[in-house]
Amino acid sequence: MERYVINGGTCLRGEVEISGAKNAAVAIIPAALMVEGVCVIENMPQISDTEMLLTILRELGAKIRFLNRSTVEIDCTSVRMQDAPYDLMRKIRASYYLIGAMLARFGHAKTTMPGGCNFGVRPIDQHIKGMTALGADVDIKNGFVYADTRDGKLHGARIYLDKVSVGATMNIILAATLAQGRTIIENAAREPHIVDLANFLNSMGADIRGAGTDTVKINGVEKLHGGSYAIIPDQIEAGTYMVAAAATGGEVLIKNVIPRHLECISAKLRETGTIVSEYGDAVLVKGASNLRKVNVKTLPYPGFPTDMQPPIAALLCVANGTSVITEGVYDNRFKYVNELRKMGAEIQVDGRVAVIEGGRRLTGAPVLACDLRAGAAMVIAGMVAQGTTVIEDVHYIERGYENFVGKLNALGADIRIVDFAEPGSGKEKIISIG
Ligand code: EPU
Repeated sequence: MERYVINGGTCLRGEVEISGAKNAAVAIIPAALMVEGVCVIENMPQISDTEMLLTILRELGAKIRFLNRSTVEIDCTSVRMQDAPYDLMRKIRASYYLIGAMLARFGHAKTTMPGGCNFGVRPIDQHIKGMTALGADVDIKNGFVYADTRDGKLHGARIYLDKVSVGATMNIILAATLAQGRTIIENAAREPHIVDLANFLNSMGADIRGAGTDTVKINGVEKLHGGSYAIIPDQIEAGTYMVAAAATGGEVLIKNVIPRHLECISAKLRETGTIVSEYGDAVLVKGASNLRKVNVKTLPYPGFPTDMQPPIAALLCVANGTSVITEGVYDNRFKYVNELRKMGAEIQVDGRVAVIEGGRRLTGAPVLACDLRAGAAMVIAGMVAQGTTVIEDVHYIERGYENFVGKLNALGADIRIVDFAEPGSGKEKIISIG
């Protein structure tokens, strides 16, 4: 029942430190299941998706302890195949990585169909195509995915993905790492977190080449050994602060980033008139007094990320002119538009295209966080709007942004986390202002 209560009209100023990448971490945690030894993983983001995956591993028998706030030690040496906690698996998308990791380690896997944000149909047919090509029998029954190898081992294969899929690319990499022989994935996704997963596995003894290109080659190895690894900074968390700084007309130094991963976002923001300066591991964003309209098409990396589509839409509501956003990855990622309309935004949606009549003055309203990135968009809109915005369902936001409210308040935002456990009873309680 927690909600964010945002007093708008603030301007973000100062410095913010970006956490480890969610979409790398949620693959690297299942990958640790394949390692017979101790993995020390640094820059682990403190978000509910990683907490759930660590709980799943712990329930499978892994020994897990935090060495400091963002460094976790995982030892899966004594893990044996057993049923994983289905209630947790159902809640997260990334539980599909347990199929690849369990198949690789044990020769069979049983998971639930993955959960995650609802952007319309999100099939896993390319994951199944990959596992089947590697020699597994995959069956979906009663909401569960069962995958089994005939002889306890997967066998390398050549796999062409019909659709560029981040999840399928990473899942096949996981499965193929301990397979017999060589696997080649063609038409692979190229996101930075795919390179990060491959680097993690290689540092534990795997032989993966070409991650970050559309052809990934994996020579299967017998075993993975323990080691240390630091997860890359989160491209989308960084992009969200960049857009928030630009939308509020502020000036923010965003630290612990890889500027190359942000080029697609920096280029779009520069088109709006925002000044983006790159340093070694930081970017400085200075908002313009008059933001200009832009057209955006989301695409797999290195295109403009679909996960940045809702945040930039919030910015374009207040930019001058008419902007067009075309969603190139998902069928249905504009559900949050209704929430922005409650704040005075003028947006028409037709299928995968949204037309935003900018230059509107947004006003605070009670709204929903429809999903993780839609929630971030509502926070940006709330900071830009006049008056008070109350956002419900903020648990979605906490799946992917570490200490979002604390980091924004340190930059000058005015956001309270309020527990409305008993609405109207007078027992509403402010549980955080930072
Ligand atoms: N697709 C298929 N078949 C498949 C797999 C995907 O048709 O077997 C389709 C999807 O329906 C979608 C497109 O291919 O239209 C791309 O999906 P992809 O597999 O790349 O997405 P994903 O692995 O399910 C990950 C991230 C998402 C991010 C996308 C795209 C994780 C856990 N999730 O999802 O992250 O939007 O890649 O970059 O890594 C987020 O962080 O907010 C988030 C939703």
